[in-house]
Amino acid sequence: MKGKTIGFVPTMGALHEGHARLIRACRSECDIAVVSIFVNPTQFGPGEDYAAYPRARKNDAALCAKLGVDFLFFPSVRDMYPPGFSTYVTVEGLQDCLCGESRPGHFRGVATVVAKLLYIVMPDIAYFGRKDAQQSVLIKKMVQDLNMPVTIKVLSTVRAADGVALSSRNAYLNESQRSQARVLYASLRLAKSMIDRGERRPAAIVKAMRKLILLAPEARIDYIAVVDALTLEQVARLRGKCLIALAVRVGGTRLIDNIEVKI
Ligand code: PAF
Repeated sequence: MKGKTIGFVPTMGALHEGHARLIRACRSECDIAVVSIFVNPTQFGPGEDYAAYPRARKNDAALCAKLGVDFLFFPSVRDMYPPGFSTYVTVEGLQDCLCGESRPGHFRGVATVVAKLLYIVMPDIAYFGRKDAQQSVLIKKMVQDLNMPVTIKVLSTVRAADGVALSSRNAYLNESQRSQARVLYASLRLAKSMIDRGERRPAAIVKAMRKLILLAPEARIDYIAVVDALTLEQVARLRGKCLIALAVRVGGTRLIDNIEVKI
């Protein structure tokens, strides 16, 4: 391995084209491509979908082989969290807002497992998707604060032809819900068009997005937020780099999406 670059794509499996894009980038930019598949129990809260989360080990392994992955890491829960495990990573300030508000403990689980995976794999570059924007911001901050010798690359969200962001959780949606899920990206596009026309007031943007989303009969809004892209703090007026992010339940499935805008 000496003198070779190691690229790493951490995943929870049920791989789709969004993961495939990360793996292709990793494959083409690094000498050694490593993928991990681990459905991490510590990032699921009580009553969330840990047990139901799709697991597709055989298909995932076949896709990784096809994409030229050199090492596939499939740890067990016991490997990652042996009895007596008691050390957790928290990224203060970034973990309790947005998704952290309705999923307390989620980002503590994410930061902890990603820190462990980075220490185990020791990659030069690790790849994440922008759909989980808060996760990427938090991981970059953790890596910086803990002086971890790794570059974090965040690649753009992969969408289906109708704009719906690819997600392993889309598998939970029935046909009607899958069609209603289009309102997430439609509302983000609406926000973008308002901003292009000069709107700078977050409240006006959120109001218009809310109205559009609620046209979908099974949509329940968890949050819609306009925040600074680096600090994730709510902005009083759009300026610089902002993130427009939302989480919406369609039926029983919680979906997230976001866009970054630069004023
Ligand atoms: O984005 C994911 O799939 C997970 O949160 C990650 C980064 C693999 C940690 O479990």
